[in-house]
Amino acid sequence: MNVLSQEKINEIRNSVNIVDVISSYMPLTPKGKNYFGVCPFHDDTNPSMSVSPSRQIYKCFSCGATGTVFKFIMDYENISFMEAVKKVADMGGIPINIGKVQKKQNHTELHKIYDLSLKFYINNLNTAQGKEAREYLKKRNINEETIKEFQIGLALKKDNLSKILIQKFKPEDALKSGLIGKNDYGYYDLFYERIMFPLYDLDGNPVAYSGRIYNREDNSKYFNTRETEMFKKGELLYNYHRAKNDARKKNQIIIMEGFMDVIRAYTIGIKNVVATMGTAVTDIQAHLIKRMAKEVILCFDGDEAGAKATMACSNELLKIGVTPKVIRLEDDLDPDEYIQKYGKDTFQRKIDNPISIMDFKLSYLKVGKDLTNSADGAKYISELIDELNKIDDDILKELTIKKVATEMNIDESLIRNHLETKEFKKPVLKKIEVPDSISKYEKAESSLIYYMLKSPEVITMYNNKVTYIPNKEYRMLAREISAFYKNFGFINEADFIDYIECDEDLMQTINKINKTNTKETYTLEEIDDYINVIRDYNIKEEIKRLTNKMKNLTDPLDKAKIAEEIVGLKKGSVN
Ligand code: UTP
Ligand code: MN
Repeated sequence: MNVLSQEKINEIRNSVNIVDVISSYMPLTPKGKNYFGVCPFHDDTNPSMSVSPSRQIYKCFSCGATGTVFKFIMDYENISFMEAVKKVADMGGIPINIGKVQKKQNHTELHKIYDLSLKFYINNLNTAQGKEAREYLKKRNINEETIKEFQIGLALKKDNLSKILIQKFKPEDALKSGLIGKNDYGYYDLFYERIMFPLYDLDGNPVAYSGRIYNREDNSKYFNTRETEMFKKGELLYNYHRAKNDARKKNQIIIMEGFMDVIRAYTIGIKNVVATMGTAVTDIQAHLIKRMAKEVILCFDGDEAGAKATMACSNELLKIGVTPKVIRLEDDLDPDEYIQKYGKDTFQRKIDNPISIMDFKLSYLKVGKDLTNSADGAKYISELIDELNKIDDDILKELTIKKVATEMNIDESLIRNHLETKEFKKPVLKKIEVPDSISKYEKAESSLIYYMLKSPEVITMYNNKVTYIPNKEYRMLAREISAFYKNFGFINEADFIDYIECDEDLMQTINKINKTNTKETYTLEEIDDYINVIRDYNIKEEIKRLTNKMKNLTDPLDKAKIAEEIVGLKKGSVN
């Protein structure tokens, strides 16, 4: 099932304390034996999530989310089980070698190449030949501190870095880095006479560069590393690793187009900001944004291209249920220019007063149209309806309909009639529906399994006495628990959850069971009761089946045989 053994996974999980790990994502307060915080997996303001240091699991009393440290990181960061294991192993200082990491073997060579190239470029900027570049940066108001923070460097001549890389690394690895090329004359640098801005992966490792011209004409202002094994432009956001903590604290993330804009914002203390780097926002990037904060503010360039990019990016976000807000900058300025021209306070006021995505779209759709002309007016309304159909936010929808109806002097129903009925969007974690009165059978199944997760004794009773659990989801879970116990000779909820790799269906069932059962202790009589209720249910079902079968029979002998069977079953039944 796992690439890593269960023992290894246990070791990794035990190398950290769940309280410390969850504390690094959200504040926790101690209360009694446990710690409490606001559950990040559903909308809430009450501290309904408890984290147990003794059991090393968390549990939300409101939405039912339960799991170990791995499950928490998986859901919080939207990553796979193995990625979460890898993260925890890193935290706990446990070296592991799993599939994905193995595949990254070359990446480690590439990482080394990037670490070296970074030092090399940074050093260049400080040399005599770096004077012109330093002056350029100075002219752009980028100070020493910023250069250091963003590890800005400089590429000079065409054959400088390639010489070093070829000496120190296998040529094929050096070529894979995207930093050097090869022709009939040998190896050469792909970046030269450019100010080098490192681009980082989500963990903050340099994995590519964007090189800007500063002393010559060239068709491309910025030249970027081509995609490599470790650099996929559409899968990262500039400054993600620096911004994510601030964004989570403020619950707000600001999205810009250029990394120069981000650097500028950073220098005035606005740190919850990332850049899309000029290309259309991908689905992966939209998810990264969603992960960081609830309030998303698009602050693209003030020009027409920026408005167009705002439209495109917002649509990508709306698709995944994020309703962004928008800032528009006057005079076609980009955030970098705007901040330099108007200063920190004016820019901060902009951030504090973003407009709604629909207000932005309304003015965007009006551009180039004469609304007194009925053809343009009809086009405007029809385009607007398309946009309304993309949003989830009911209140915003309602306000926009009213606004446009008034503005265009039309009946609201004209718009409403064209709106699609909203399809149900699945929340991060499905809220668990617990009916007010669950049947005694279901209660018995649920309670039996609840205690199976706590005690080998109950598992043994299940193995010996229960032939069949009627409800499919409970049956699957009970089988898995029994299998786990057979394999490892012990049972523990945290270990079990890891063993099933937080399988979504099984987790749903566990969450449901944990919601309907809360008592820690049980008596053997209670367990026997549950088992009897389940057995009884099975007997009743069997009787039903046989009765039906008997109805279809004609031969009196056959009928009698079945009748006898039924009587036998009834005798065995408790009620
Ligand atoms: P911009 O042209 O808005 O960059 O492109 P900028 O931030 O204003 O840069 P400066 O102020 O002129 O130095 C936005 C982003 O698009 C990408 C870069 O990632 C840039 O940050 N871009 C732009 C390129 O990749 N290549 C280019 O030639 C231009
Ligand atoms: Mn600019």
